Amino acid sequence: MKEKLKILVVGGGGREHTIIRKLLESPRTEKIYCAPGNGGISCDAQCVDVKATDIPGMVALAKEKEIDLVFVAPDDPLAAGMVDSLEEAGIPAFGPRANAAVIESSKVFSKNLMKKYGIPTAEYETFSDPAAAMDYIRLRGKYPVVVKADGLALGKGVLICEDEKSAAEAVHSIMEDRIFGVSGSQVVVEEFLTGPEVSVLAFTDGKSIKPMVSSQDHKRALDGDKGLNTGGMGTISPNPHYDDAMACRCMEEIFLPTIRAMNTEGRPFKGCLYFGLMLTPDGPKVIEYNSRFGDPETQVVLPRLKTDFVDIIEAVVEERLDSQPIEWLDGAAACVVMASGGYPLSYPKGIEITGLDENGQVAGATVYHAGTVKKDGKFYTAGGRVLGITALGSTLDEALAHAYDAVSRIHFDGAHYRRDIGRR
Ligand code: AMP
Ligand code: GLY
Repeated sequence: MKEKLKILVVGGGGREHTIIRKLLESPRTEKIYCAPGNGGISCDAQCVDVKATDIPGMVALAKEKEIDLVFVAPDDPLAAGMVDSLEEAGIPAFGPRANAAVIESSKVFSKNLMKKYGIPTAEYETFSDPAAAMDYIRLRGKYPVVVKADGLALGKGVLICEDEKSAAEAVHSIMEDRIFGVSGSQVVVEEFLTGPEVSVLAFTDGKSIKPMVSSQDHKRALDGDKGLNTGGMGTISPNPHYDDAMACRCMEEIFLPTIRAMNTEGRPFKGCLYFGLMLTPDGPKVIEYNSRFGDPETQVVLPRLKTDFVDIIEAVVEERLDSQPIEWLDGAAACVVMASGGYPLSYPKGIEITGLDENGQVAGATVYHAGTVKKDGKFYTAGGRVLGITALGSTLDEALAHAYDAVSRIHFDGAHYRRDIGRR
């Protein structure tokens, strides 16, 4: 690739804002476009109104702006083959092709892959017939039992059922009422696992894999892990449950076997592979794979990256990651998400946000915008998750103190955030 790059980032949330801010630190970044972007992102990149899922539109935009590299961040364009189309047009892209992104977009695929290659995961069966799923659940007779829609469902397609009645309701609503649409044409029924959850994102070029620093998400809406599941209400890095010994074990038992399995299947994975792990009493097991950077995991992982991000992306795209060193900052990072009142159910939009400067920032922390618009120099809410306030520190306590101090200076009506991030 050229020394100086024009980069197009696809997406428009907190993850994409974090990616853009990290790209801006590189002397190799000449200009950044983001489609569609958001209010905060518009302070750092030129936003273009093309939908993240519009593949022909994105290819045309990349050609028009003479883009040197496209970073496809969200799951749905990856699953739909945006990287394939960009490559066919001769435009280098970071992210897996559709045949590898399936590791996230089909849970039936990923579960069968793990079974075939002996990668530790919860025991399960897959079903395309609701009655057969219920026969299995009754025969098994162990609760809680976990029922998952096969396809992408905005992180909401997992139902943990305490008894037969709620399992029957889950199967019915996924497979017959189709509450997650076609994602529910098949279900995975699996064993309920216990233990701390760890997120590990990893760079991979299909040949070698280099895990990033670990992190921990907080998925429930309310303090004490109560309330509904959300896209993620906050994160910390590193994850206190994940030590060097566990990292070595995961490398041997999970990370390398996954890369090899995808190669053997003729689906080499290039990009960022996300391992959602549970550290069970029987060892680490895979809860899910994502074919992309996590949101809001990215908000605490990338700020700790010391190495030039553009160099790493280039090494992945050009399949020479093995010889690319990657260094991380010691210490810790914490991200607190400020959400609209009502999220993850319905919530109002267009509420003015105060306490931010003209670039959407506050002193002492970095504000990654997830759902905002900017009009006449003011910021307004435009989504469920609105802002991710992130701070670094030499310890987790220090990072949390900085992040919460910044949160206390930002206001919008109905704002809701968890007060116990990093306190589990
Ligand atoms: P997923 O979308 O697959 O990450 O699932 C969402 C959340 O559901 C996970 O972060 C876990 O907290 C929980 N979960 C998923 N599968 C299981 C399981 N087999 N046992 C216990 N909890 C699970
Ligand atoms: N934070 C979980 C995800 O990105 O899917």
